[in-house]
Amino acid sequence: MNGSNRPRVLWASRFGFVLAAAGSAIGLGNIWKFPYITGQHGGGAFVLVYLACIALVGVPILMAELLIGRQGRRDAVGCFAVLERPGSPWMIVGWVGVAASFILLSFYAVVAGWSFDYVVMAASGALRGRSPVEIEGLFGVLVSSPGRVIFWQGVFVVATVAIVLGGVRDGIERCSRILMPALFILLLVLFGRGLMSSGGVPALRFMFQADFSALTPQALLDAVGHAFFTLSLGAGTMITYASYLDPEADLGGLALRIALLDTLMALLAALTIFSVAFTAGIEPGSGPGLVFQTLPILLLELPFGSVLALLFFLLLAFAALSSSISMLEVTVAYLVDEKSWPRWRAAGLVGIAAFLVGVPSALSFNLWQDFKPFFGRTFFEACDLLVSSYLLPLGGLLVAIYIGWVWPRRHSLAELGAGRQQQRWVHSWQLLLRYVAPAAVIIVLLNQMGVFR
Ligand code: PHE
Repeated sequence: MNGSNRPRVLWASRFGFVLAAAGSAIGLGNIWKFPYITGQHGGGAFVLVYLACIALVGVPILMAELLIGRQGRRDAVGCFAVLERPGSPWMIVGWVGVAASFILLSFYAVVAGWSFDYVVMAASGALRGRSPVEIEGLFGVLVSSPGRVIFWQGVFVVATVAIVLGGVRDGIERCSRILMPALFILLLVLFGRGLMSSGGVPALRFMFQADFSALTPQALLDAVGHAFFTLSLGAGTMITYASYLDPEADLGGLALRIALLDTLMALLAALTIFSVAFTAGIEPGSGPGLVFQTLPILLLELPFGSVLALLFFLLLAFAALSSSISMLEVTVAYLVDEKSWPRWRAAGLVGIAAFLVGVPSALSFNLWQDFKPFFGRTFFEACDLLVSSYLLPLGGLLVAIYIGWVWPRRHSLAELGAGRQQQRWVHSWQLLLRYVAPAAVIIVLLNQMGVFR
């Protein structure tokens, strides 16, 4: 038996859906990862390539995922049972999504937990009056303490479960309505402060002056990979969220809005972080430690620095939370729709499981730091590689092939393109979905596997 006969709870409004889906998209990927990879790849030219990847690969696949969810009206696995038939091999797309979002939740919670710890440090004044060397050292003290890291990882998972327990409308949508505007305002305040400092103009120049000689093949590949991660593609999240949409929603418009909000937040976050870095004369290419080690030092040197640091880590925590709820919802929707589990049981048990699977990731920075059984990688690094470099691109590739080649074209036309003008858009979208997106993803996957080396 499955739960598909039960009336499905829908989003209270399409705006609520856009906020929730943008909430899923906007996360650590935007505020932590995008700035540091942009820094590493030298700025402007990489930003242009990234924008092209979002437009040509990300948005078409995002639309395809929304289409699958809205037509199937079940969880990511069940959608393919509806669109094809029960037991169809295409259900594997849903399984890839469930696996990806579950593993992602397990280690995402570890990094998100650090941001909770920093919120408390900033609020309690523990950052104030310290020398830069001491502040930089705080990160090492935090991650090398297994108890502290696991505690905050647990708090983060409990917060995620609490929201998902409330359900789609009263939990996820209501929370997104608070978190997303708060996030936007916090980021605008920090952005304004950053632009006014002496690093503002150099940051704009770094981000928007393209020097194509700095562009490497690896930059192109990273841009495609990051487009998947940042738009939450290939993980079943957008399929699941779209399954709670009303049948009349205009999917193209919704996909564009989600992608625009996500891109805007990534650009604002990167500009903010670079302007703070340039003010202090620091190179933006300093890597993953940028946000936790470098940024607090720099923020604290500004007037009202400790308030700014508090705002920044709150921002990071909110962004992570609105993403993690979408990861949990994928597996919860599967258990509720396919196995008829009550939501409380699904959310509770999946939360506990994700926490337990995440513990080795938390230990990868301390007790198990030197335990590298996965081709010289720690457990955390192996999970990250598996999800970000393989599962998400694979899931996205299968979605593109399914909607581009397998699902009858007339259905897409009927669903997306009523007017003549729209039909033209649908044709361009299909071209991207059939040729451009699969080619880009296949190249990325082959490169990951070392074929070009
Ligand atoms: N898009 C999220 C971020 O940028 C990560 C994510 C990936 C969330 C896949 C859900 C699914 O942080």
